[in-house]
Amino acid sequence: MISIDYHEQTKHHFNRFARSLGYLDWATQPNPFRRYAGAPILELPRRALAADRPYDALFDGSADPAPVNDDSIGEFLRCSMGLSAWKQFGDSRWALRVNPSSGNLHPTETYVIRGGRVWHYAVREHALEERCAFEEPANHQPSNHQPANHQPSNYQPAFLVALSSIHWREAWKYGERAFRYCQHDAGHAIGTMRLAAALLGWRLALLPRWSDAQIAALLGLDRDADYGDAEREEPECVAVVTAGDPQPGIDQDPSTLAAAAAAGSWRGTANRLSDRRVDWPIIDQVSAATRYPGVAETESGARDPKSQTSNPNTRSSKNARSVIITRRSALAFDAQSGLRRDAFLAMLRRLLPSSAPWDAIDWPPQVHLVLFVHRVEELVPGIYAYLRDDAVQAEWKAAMRGEFLWERVEADLFLLVPIDCRRLANRLSCDQDIAEDGFFSLAMIARLEASLRERGEWFYRRLFWECGLIGQVLYLEAEAVGARATGIGCFYDDPVHDMLGLTGHAWQSLYHFSMGVPVEDRRLTSEPGYAWEGMEGTETV
Ligand SMILES: Cc1cc2nc3c(=O)[nH]c(=O)nc-3n(C[C@H](O)[C@H](O)[C@H](O)COP(=O)(O)O)c2cc1C
Repeated sequence: MISIDYHEQTKHHFNRFARSLGYLDWATQPNPFRRYAGAPILELPRRALAADRPYDALFDGSADPAPVNDDSIGEFLRCSMGLSAWKQFGDSRWALRVNPSSGNLHPTETYVIRGGRVWHYAVREHALEERCAFEEPANHQPSNHQPANHQPSNYQPAFLVALSSIHWREAWKYGERAFRYCQHDAGHAIGTMRLAAALLGWRLALLPRWSDAQIAALLGLDRDADYGDAEREEPECVAVVTAGDPQPGIDQDPSTLAAAAAAGSWRGTANRLSDRRVDWPIIDQVSAATRYPGVAETESGARDPKSQTSNPNTRSSKNARSVIITRRSALAFDAQSGLRRDAFLAMLRRLLPSSAPWDAIDWPPQVHLVLFVHRVEELVPGIYAYLRDDAVQAEWKAAMRGEFLWERVEADLFLLVPIDCRRLANRLSCDQDIAEDGFFSLAMIARLEASLRERGEWFYRRLFWECGLIGQVLYLEAEAVGARATGIGCFYDDPVHDMLGLTGHAWQSLYHFSMGVPVEDRRLTSEPGYAWEGMEGTETV
């Protein structure tokens, strides 16, 4: 399988990193902001609409739904894909965003489809660029502009959001491994969008009936003339956002909407992000091999509606919006602070698929955790397994080292080895201190080969999306307890598998993660993400 070959080829080994340029060519550093010159601009409203929602509302679906309009869509984008701060050190100035990204390179572009328009989100300006005006098919519901006599009784205003990736942005720094990072980032973006939807009392669900080719047609990504020699965008996913039941949007046949957009009136040409580029053919190959063909007309797009159960913990007084906007990656941890056991367990429970953001995706958990626990009170340091699906225990027991204890600590948490694993975690995560100095770090272990064989190579991307979603939940959970987290894309793949006793491609580590009390870099100065917002609500420390 091309995806598994790609995965094998892009592993980091103790004696050899995955192929990249090996140095940063600053002359070709990609512009992090895509723009479409000539596309009309709609400035988005700048009001913070959801400043008073408690943190738990992100997960329990308790926020009152906001009306779907320009104001609330502006708030939705601001709290998912917007800028969170501008940082400066010496002459260098760079933006951070609400969604994290490997190397802060931000390959993910965002589109909104609503009312017969396809809009591209211009992040720096917090504005929408009108890429396309088209005649909405009368039978297509995800629109706020349907005449009343076309709406079924259960109709709720809805719109679509879609994501694409510009691989070059990540490949510039990371070479061949970059495709993985683009997929992690897409997963984080799905998570930020699902939770920003929850902030506004909405639901968000990916639309499995849309093929990648249909998404490309909807977003105009297949319009060669609009890109010229600019870097192309790869379609990733499209989702319905609604205050009501997303199921009508999920069931909708995509073909009429995709065709209507393709026949619409398109405006704007993409900016070129770098003067020169290095080609990484293996990325083009894996990208082509993992394109999603969509669901055949005969198959139903329907899925089990997931209930949104409340997941109570001790942090309900937190303000959800400020947790979202102040999320940051830690650069270093203090190597001494501990996390309370109940807080740790509550965080892990957020990863169970019973509440948001897990209702955004339509597959059961394929990714489970191996944790390196360093400083969690009343928990012996060691290597633990956290299973997001009980049924996996027997499989993992059989696949992993026979000497692991499998001592149940809590419902889904098992102690494998009581050991001081700080140095081990550091070494396995590319010798990064963040894996050692926090409360814990972890490896996300995915069912790789079987899930690709059962579903198709396109599922390779979704395994990374699931990892990104896990990471996004943990990023917010860290902020909510006054700590901080960091995604870790750099780890030595097979040494992780060897440590666990895993062989072959059945289970592979796809993403690492860490959490602790951060040590700030005081040399950096910070400004708000948008000049019209004060620093309040944009910084915690
Ligand atoms: C997929 C992914 C992989 C990452 N890998 C690492 C890593 O290996 N080491 C690290 O220090 N930070 C890592 N980060 C953190 C990013 O550098 C960070 O998200 C980025 O600089 C933006 O900063 P922010 O998260 O504070 O907005 C990773 C983030 C993501 C999303």
